Amino acid sequence: METLFNDFSTLIVFLHVLSAVLWVGGMIAIRFAVHYSLQEIEDPKIKLGRTLQSLRRFFNMVIPAIILLLLTAIIMIIALGFKGTPLYSFVIAKEVIWTIMTVLFTIIFIKRKQAQKAFDTGAFALAKEKLTPIAQYLIPINIVLGLIAIYLGITLRGF
Ligand code: HEM
Repeated sequence: METLFNDFSTLIVFLHVLSAVLWVGGMIAIRFAVHYSLQEIEDPKIKLGRTLQSLRRFFNMVIPAIILLLLTAIIMIIALGFKGTPLYSFVIAKEVIWTIMTVLFTIIFIKRKQAQKAFDTGAFALAKEKLTPIAQYLIPINIVLGLIAIYLGITLRGF
């Protein structure tokens, strides 16, 4: 594993950072650009339909990024041997953050699916109710956690 990292270290760190960019940057773009723009749509059906679609398309790029983030993290943990060093607690902290972010993402994923089901049967109020917590706190919490993970990544860099 160590040789695998040495040979491909640039690629592995690149894929790790790229995944973080897609996930955290994607959430920021969705929450602060797309969300406010969609709020301007008056027709509730079009507004909900576009919201559901932009989230669905966002998931298509975020799911691979979440998996890739973990795979590259595992390779780095094994190859860099943090165990027993003062930085090991940062590694654990990042693992905990990744886990919480993934649990919150799963909740977001389920809520969007429920909202889609409600939307398809014409229950627009229910669809809205399912989508509201995504914008209100689930994505904002994940943005903050993601930023902390990036900061911790910088403290681990080049070890
Ligand atoms: C699963 C747990 C994780 C572990 C064990 C982990 C581990 C690491 C390590 C060891 C580095 C340093 C690489 C180097 O030698 O340059 C790093 C960098 C980085 N990590 Fe993670 N990471 C994890 C999750 C995350 C998450 C969830 C994010 C953001 C969403 C993230 C974002 C970053 C970024 C942006 C860097 C690059 C920092 C820099 O180049 O200065 N990581 N990570």
